[in-house]
This record gives sequence, C-alpha cells and structure tokens, in this order.
Amino acid sequence: MKAILCKEFGGPEKLVFGDTLDPVPGPKQILIAVEACGVNFPDVLIIQNKYQFKPELPFSPGGEVAGSVISLGSEVTNFQIGQQVLALCGWGGFAEKVAVDANRVFALPSGLPPEIAATTLYTYGTSYHALKDRANLQPEETLLVLGAAGGVGLAAVELGKLMGAKVIAAASSEEKLALCQEKGADLTINYEMEDLKSRIKELTGGKGVDVVYDPVGGKYTESAVRSMAWKGRYLIVGFANGEIPQIPMNLPLLKGCSIIGVFWGQFSTLEAKASFQNTQQLMEWIQVGKIRQHIGRSYSLEEAPEALQAILDRKMLGKGVVMI
Ligand SMILES: NC(=O)c1ccc[n+]([C@@H]2O[C@H](COP(=O)([O-])OP(=O)(O)OC[C@H]3O[C@@H](n4cnc5c(N)ncnc54)[C@H](OP(=O)(O)O)[C@@H]3O)[C@@H](O)[C@H]2O)c1
Repeated sequence: MKAILCKEFGGPEKLVFGDTLDPVPGPKQILIAVEACGVNFPDVLIIQNKYQFKPELPFSPGGEVAGSVISLGSEVTNFQIGQQVLALCGWGGFAEKVAVDANRVFALPSGLPPEIAATTLYTYGTSYHALKDRANLQPEETLLVLGAAGGVGLAAVELGKLMGAKVIAAASSEEKLALCQEKGADLTINYEMEDLKSRIKELTGGKGVDVVYDPVGGKYTESAVRSMAWKGRYLIVGFANGEIPQIPMNLPLLKGCSIIGVFWGQFSTLEAKASFQNTQQLMEWIQVGKIRQHIGRSYSLEEAPEALQAILDRKMLGKGVVMI
C-alpha cells in the first residue's frame, strides 16, 4: 500500500511517500481502508520522537481516521465488513490502510462526510472533556480560549458557546480571530499585538475570566493565570508554543483558583464509558448541525508533510485533513 513513512525522526521534510506492507489486524483489531485522516498537533510531535507514544521506525503518522472496514480480527463481532467507521489509531493513518483496536473504532453516523468524521473526535473530544468534566463550565461564565483558531481551540470556542458561556477568543492574527467570531466568539484578543492581561481586564470590567482553556503555554500562560476571576479554573491542555511555563504558586492562592490538567487520551482509556457518552453527545450535535468542524485545507496523501509543516508554522486555520 501507499503511505507517508517516518523512517528517521525529524521534521516533516524527513517524511517520505512510498510503498509499505499492508498492516495485518490482530484478533481484537479492525483493518480499515482509510478515506480521510485528520491532522493533529501530536503528529508533529510523534515524528520528532517528542510525544508520549513512541512507535518503532518506520511508521506512518496520522492518529484519527474515517473509512470503511476491510476485515475483522477473529475476536471482533460488533462490526461488519464494508461498514463506515471513524477510529482513533494514534498513528498509521497517513496510509491507505490501518489496523486499529476495535474499542477505538466507532460506527460512522449516516450522512457524515469522512473529512468531517476524521477531524472531530480528537478536537471536540478533548475540548468537551476539558470544559464539561474538568472545568464544569456554567452558563453565563466567561471562558478565555488561547490558540482559539487552532484545532482544539476552535472546538472550545464552539462548545463554550453551546454551553452558554461568554467566549473570549485569543489568537495571533486578525484572520484567525475573524474565524473565531464566525464560530461564535463574543470578544477577541490579538495576543501578538495587544497585552493579554490588560485586555482581559478591560473586557471583563476588572473581574477576570472564570475559565481559561490553554493549549498553547509559553509566555501567555502566566498573563492568563494573573487574569483569573475568584474561584476560576485554569485548564492546562497543551504546549503548542513549545515552552512549558513555570507558574509562581502564590498566584492560585491569591486568586482562589484551580489549575487543572486535561489528558483526554488517558480519560478515554481510564473512563471509557464516560468518554463514550461524550462521543455520543458530540455525534448528536454534529448530526443536527450544532457543531461543525472548520477544515482549513485538504491535502492529498503525498502532500501530508505540508500539512504538518503548516501546523509548525502556525498557518493552519481550524483543522487540516488528508484525503486518501
Ligand atoms: N491534553 C490533551 O488531552 C490534548 C488533546 C489534544 C491536543 N492537545 C495539545 O493541544 C495543543 C494544540 O493542539 P491542536 O491540535 O489544536 O494544534 P493546532 O491546531 O496547531 O493549534 C495550536 C495553536 O497554538 C498556537 N501556537 C502558538 N505558538 C505556536 C507555535 N510555536 N507552534 C505552533 N502553534 C503555536 C497557534 O495559534 P496562534 O498562532 O493563534 O497563537 C495554533 O493555532 C498541542 O500541544 C496538543 O498536543 C492536548
């Protein structure tokens, strides 16, 4: 089969497009003909050997796919050959076929195009778990989203509005902020042009924000922690900026606020039932049009390294998808 292969760790320029052997599904796995694969930040980390999962070389990146079932492992009984599915494979998705554990495969809701299905679970799953299960976001609360036009950020903007919050979107360009407004953001901050802390103070009348959703880290984090309202919840989601911030521990004391870790992958493993319920809720919202992924750009399989470069260059709007 054709695939994008990581034969040595490094940037997207080290990836090669070529032929490799078809994967063979284990007894509890499903072999999927990939039609679309979502592009996610961990794809950039995994090819540089900087992610928590470290597959053996050579491997294909690409952690989230939609496609049809080609064959079933001997112990899999709840899917059928030819059925349309979406799946969380971790890696292996930038390829014509991928073998995935059956408990990470979901029936595709009818009428959902593969490019939407393959770009949904990871971003909305993370943001819904963060806002609902970790922050307990309430209607009328103020939610600040950093990196708000990125994959998980834009999902947080949309879900925050759906949950009744007032959403402040922060991002690095006017084009990105315009997209956030299209998705419902009430207020915006260009954190490359404006001082984050003083702008939050201005927008909240000095009260600060109730919940911060932070997938970026780096220099923005301390300013945002200093802008929390009393009893606020600060969600640590990721460090797209590359720098893990160090926060003075007197700040949560003074604000009476909580700093809360979000690890959706672990949640979906350790609390599989609750995670499945979240997924069902998200699928319902997608089917009735309450949430809809913004696809910034589609790429062919051969172009997949360009998609990863766009993530590194902060050029991706919403989500990228690789169509196979
Ligand atoms: N904890 C979890 O369970 C979980 C789940 C999913 C993702 N994550 C993490 O969340 C982060 C975001 O993931 P994503 O898929 O949303 O990525 P993404 O689509 O690339 O968005 C990341 C955003 O971060 C901002 N950014 C700031 N500095 C950057 C830099 N040096 N390089 C790249 N982006 C930079 C960019 O927005 P501006 O240009 O507007 O600043 C960009 O839109 C990643 O660290 C990922 O690993 C964590």
